Amino acid sequence: KSNTVAKTLGGKKYFGSATDNPELNDTAYVATLSDNTLFGQITPGNSMKWDATEPSRGVFTFAAGDAVAALAKKNGQLLRGHNCVWYNQLASWVTAGNFNASTLTSILQTHCGTVVSHYAGQMKDSWDVVNEPFNDDGTVRSFVFSDALGLTSYVTTALVAARAADPAAKLYINDYNIDSAGAKATAMINLVTSLKAAGTPIDGVGIQGHLIVGEVPSKAALIANYEAFTALGIEIAITELDIRMTLPETPALLAQQQTDYNTVISACKAVAGCVGVTIWDYTDKYSWIPGVFTGQGAALPWDDNLIRKPAYDGIIAGF
Ligand code: XIL
Repeated sequence: KSNTVAKTLGGKKYFGSATDNPELNDTAYVATLSDNTLFGQITPGNSMKWDATEPSRGVFTFAAGDAVAALAKKNGQLLRGHNCVWYNQLASWVTAGNFNASTLTSILQTHCGTVVSHYAGQMKDSWDVVNEPFNDDGTVRSFVFSDALGLTSYVTTALVAARAADPAAKLYINDYNIDSAGAKATAMINLVTSLKAAGTPIDGVGIQGHLIVGEVPSKAALIANYEAFTALGIEIAITELDIRMTLPETPALLAQQQTDYNTVISACKAVAGCVGVTIWDYTDKYSWIPGVFTGQGAALPWDDNLIRKPAYDGIIAGF
């Protein structure tokens, strides 16, 4: 099936949404999500993460991820995998105390290899293989794999295993606060540069885009940074866009949010190597923001009642 939004609004770029399994029982929600003239792409918000897919060592559970993959297939939507290795939502059995470095390497190979292999051929278009490797100051985020193996080793292990498991999937490293130039974006550029030099498979950087109303970088700053990434010979995507505000919503905040969504979408549109934009679910009804950022929310283009907000018009105008 063709994706009308991608064709009419974005040329070759996709526009998509994350979703999560509990939401798939909400008929009105699923109806809009399944409109492939609107959403050309889906990302599972939780069901392909390590704690969901390998809750005990060697025991793989794919039912929830499969449900999201099947929905995307039925709707003729692209699917992005999310994610193989992350410090968060990692199964609790993966601890440095229990395993030495070589066993941890093998655990990582097996996990990424098995999960990516399970979805081989379905992952059209890409996988977030490595999620959030850096702290905001550009230092390496400490967790079991970076502590035991080092950044280059664990990232390489994950990417090589993913490539072998699904040669057709584009492989990404994904992080937040890398929207514009700064220490964290520089750290990501340096990592990709070294991976490329070593011949390690890497196809893209995912710029999550968890942003704040009124604090979005300028379009020029976004474009300059997006181009710094694509100059490395990779593509980029905006993988988890949401633009939150301090509640309550006001007309002024909603108008600023419309501008802010427009800024991000039009910056992606301006950069040939920015292949698409995914919002981190489409309705405030299911946004992760209020649960994590106290007093903040209303971050998505559809409200709690699945009604379009001004942000929606900002997106349409931006593509
Ligand atoms: C979030 C999910 O949306 C929530 O449901 C879950 O409780 C926590 O994770 N960066 C990421 C995503 O890469 O996986 C996170 O998703 C949001 C931040």
